[in-house]
Amino acid sequence: MSFTESLRHAVRRDQVFDFLIPDAGPRLDLSHQTILYLEDLTVSFDGFKAINNLNLYIEAGELRCIIGPNGAGKSTMMDIITGKTRPDSGSAWFGQSINLLNMSEADIAEAGIGRKFQKPTVFEMLTVFQNLELAMAQDKRVLALLRASLSAEQRDWIDHTLETIGLSELAQEPASKLSHGQKQWLEIGMLLMQQPKLLLVDEPVAGMTHQEMDRTAELLTSLAGERSVVVVEHDMDFVRSIARTVTVLHQGAVLAEGSMEQVQNDARVKQVYLGE
Ligand SMILES: Nc1ncnc2c1ncn2[C@@H]1O[C@H](COP(=O)(O)OP(=O)(O)O)[C@@H](O)[C@H]1O
Ligand SMILES: [Mg+2]
Repeated sequence: MSFTESLRHAVRRDQVFDFLIPDAGPRLDLSHQTILYLEDLTVSFDGFKAINNLNLYIEAGELRCIIGPNGAGKSTMMDIITGKTRPDSGSAWFGQSINLLNMSEADIAEAGIGRKFQKPTVFEMLTVFQNLELAMAQDKRVLALLRASLSAEQRDWIDHTLETIGLSELAQEPASKLSHGQKQWLEIGMLLMQQPKLLLVDEPVAGMTHQEMDRTAELLTSLAGERSVVVVEHDMDFVRSIARTVTVLHQGAVLAEGSMEQVQNDARVKQVYLGE
């Protein structure tokens, strides 16, 4: 390895697991420190503008909270980022060079955007470990999974993820035995197996106990830095406990942005959201 190569290798510390390095596909360019650009986005459903000239930027490594009343367009925004919904106009870029509006949902996921939906979709009859194994596998059939043997490196990566999500001790338990909160963490772990650079999380603490909420706040905070995390959440106490920058969406556009304190003291925000 040349000096430059080894330097590059050392800097890309989140890619020590060689088998995870994508062999093709577009490269994420974060040279301007911005991982997501949503500009002048508009989407109409039957003439109703669910997203109305939305402009939003997410920095590399940041943890952003998105709040806003029901129908504000939060889920639709995530649908646009992940390719599920196409906007009528505007642009959506992942880093400097990846145009999300030209890509399929599968290509967007592969390029490094992971999305966690509200309802956990873990496989109840598989163990926690096997769920992570399946999430990592190229071939998603359970039979293929059982036949294949893991490399030491892959095993390490699963163990590392188990530690991150705090489920190491429960690795050999069937997922059906997990609490609601633990299932949510497992699903976050399953997303992490694919090494996303941007993680979108929709209402992660709905139905969680206070203790589980605290643990989730810690988990999401720890995940930022190496990747960017965007959290949509209704629970104000939770948002307060993790928030750095908070963006308030209203009628499909950004109403306010800033620290939780700034946003809470914004008269327009009080009117449409916090005071409701
Ligand atoms: N596929 C769709 N067809 C028609 N209307 C939709 C569709 N998706 C969302 N909407 C409407 O767009 C608005 C924004 O919805 P949504 O993005 O789910 O808001 P939020 O997640 O902030 O509660 C709502 O009025 C909703 O009814
Ligand atoms: Mg929603």
